[in-house]
Amino acid sequence: MPPLYFFQSLSSIYHETFKFFTQELAVDLGTANTLIIQNDKVVVDEPSIVAINRQTNEVIAVGNRAMQMHEKTHDNIKTVRPLKDGVIADFQAAEALIQGLINMIGEKRRFFTHLKMVICIPSGITEVEKRAVFDSADHVDSKETYLIHEPMAAALGIGLDVEEPIGHMVIDIGGGTTEIAVIALSGIVTDQSIRIAGDEFTNDIIDYMKRKHNILIGERTAEQIKIHAGAAMAEIQDAPPKYAVNGRDLLTGIPKQVFTSHGEVAEALDKSIAKIEEAILKALEDTPPELSSDIFKTGLYLTGGGALLRGLDVRISLKTKLNVIIADDPLRAVVRGTGMALKNSHKFSFLIDRKSI
Ligand SMILES: Nc1ncnc2c1ncn2[C@@H]1O[C@H](COP(=O)(O)OP(=O)(O)OP(=O)(O)O)[C@@H](O)[C@H]1O
Ligand SMILES: [Mg+2]
Repeated sequence: MPPLYFFQSLSSIYHETFKFFTQELAVDLGTANTLIIQNDKVVVDEPSIVAINRQTNEVIAVGNRAMQMHEKTHDNIKTVRPLKDGVIADFQAAEALIQGLINMIGEKRRFFTHLKMVICIPSGITEVEKRAVFDSADHVDSKETYLIHEPMAAALGIGLDVEEPIGHMVIDIGGGTTEIAVIALSGIVTDQSIRIAGDEFTNDIIDYMKRKHNILIGERTAEQIKIHAGAAMAEIQDAPPKYAVNGRDLLTGIPKQVFTSHGEVAEALDKSIAKIEEAILKALEDTPPELSSDIFKTGLYLTGGGALLRGLDVRISLKTKLNVIIADDPLRAVVRGTGMALKNSHKFSFLIDRKSI
């Protein structure tokens, strides 16, 4: 009988070899952006968009390259955003996006590589939609797939200890959805998900520019206005300068330029932000009192791209009379948390596998 250390070294060789052939990816498949973490590094951070040849259905580009074509296509090419309101609306395009982004990582996949993925999903997703995400993962050849709810991933990525018996409220304002959740003891205690977030803000700006300045602008221009001149209220510190907007005159059809300000953007976004505030108040109302008492002390954590809107933290703080903390690098908190879940998949009970749905 060989000595024990023989078996131990055999097992360690097996594990090292297996690790070598394992590709482990944490994926934040978002309505606006998809991010992938591999070996603790963000290796992909691209807009969730695919350009497709209408005639052949062939995928021409994904991510940034496809975004450059967006709203500038001709009859032969269409651009598709596979996710809407946080969930996959076009499965074929979603799979093309995931596959295209995985290919970007550049690492050659051997046919026997064991692909393991943790994918984050909105908390309001149905069982059918969950199954569809598993199917998409199967189609890109994932051999081991787990799902994690977005607010849980956000909380982990913010650096909160989600396992302790202390309540934390996380507000993730993404492109498609705003998710508001109270997290304690590794679970989501209360949760509000509304389909008002960055995309809605962008539409509000397009509508406002039409009404106020008689100018027609595209999604990309509206998004730039939001980023460069956006604000949640008119009275903010460090107001950005006026912003030049180019578009098409609604009356004459001729290209024209107008200037907008953060005050105008705040006016354009006011109704949508009020709806987010309402959802936050509703989530606070649904929170069990002992956890409310924790939240009074810990405050509200803001994350997702929407957290970067100037003055949003102050506006929510004035409304709720609670302390509001903006997460570090809010666009990446969810993928950071998904990465942590990937590393701890053996221990986190809140991860969802195919058997549990
Ligand atoms: N500086 C900024 N100010 C305001 N909004 C911003 C800023 N930067 C990015 N955004 C917006 O944040 C949104 C993208 O955020 P994020 O990447 O968190 O969404 P997502 O995860 O793709 O969407 P979801 O979680 O809803 O599926 C976009 O609508 C973008 O316009
Ligand atoms: Mg998101």
